[in-house]
Amino acid sequence: MTHPMIAPSILAADFGNLQRDVELLNQSQADWIHVDIMDGVFVPNISFGIPVCEAVNRHATKPLDVHLMIVQPERYIDAFAKAGAAQPDRPGTITVHLEACTHLHRTLTQIRETGCRAGVALNPHSSVDLLTDILDEIDLVLIMSVNPGFGGQTFIPHTLQKIRRLRRLMADSGRSALIEVDGGVSTDNVADLVEAGADVLVAGSSVFRASDPAEAIQALKYFDRA
Ligand code: DX5
Ligand code: ZN
Repeated sequence: MTHPMIAPSILAADFGNLQRDVELLNQSQADWIHVDIMDGVFVPNISFGIPVCEAVNRHATKPLDVHLMIVQPERYIDAFAKAGAAQPDRPGTITVHLEACTHLHRTLTQIRETGCRAGVALNPHSSVDLLTDILDEIDLVLIMSVNPGFGGQTFIPHTLQKIRRLRRLMADSGRSALIEVDGGVSTDNVADLVEAGADVLVAGSSVFRASDPAEAIQALKYFDRA
């Protein structure tokens, strides 16, 4: 059994104790630190921007997994690369939404040029088939299992079919990209997600609302030993 990578979302952390919560993730079995950027336009909520990403990066010892829920993401790729996603000793990921990109090929090339992995996120309504002609340029596909914009929402079960379909699509075309799932992930669905083919699991509330977040991360990663 291979264990999924876990990317706790800093959106669910205590912003008054950001350094403490980043250090908690450093000490835990988390693989990446997921950084949710919301602009109030692409999604109906505003989270935080470049200075907070820099602050997370100052204390982090793990790669940053930057999820841009913003329109025209190409305008900010270099800024987020500099704010920590392209840290040379622990290169991270920058993920843009398919629905926000007019020239996705160009945008993914721009991300790879910064030294980051290039990710594409799909909203629940977007089919994985839309990626058929761009798979070569993608290092990671982020399948949204909630409508983006807020933490703490309920997992959409149809996500499992999308993961399976994407796995098949990649196997049939001989291509590989990491499959990441984001939204409503908890110990209730981790086994199904891994069985369907997820490689990386984002978890916000199920980690930071737990009485022991490090233990919650461990429970997600080693769900089969529970
Ligand atoms: C949702 C964000 C998620 C969110 C996950 O728009 O992209 O990363 O923080 O939070 P939970 O795990 O609480 O659904
Ligand atoms: Zn996210």
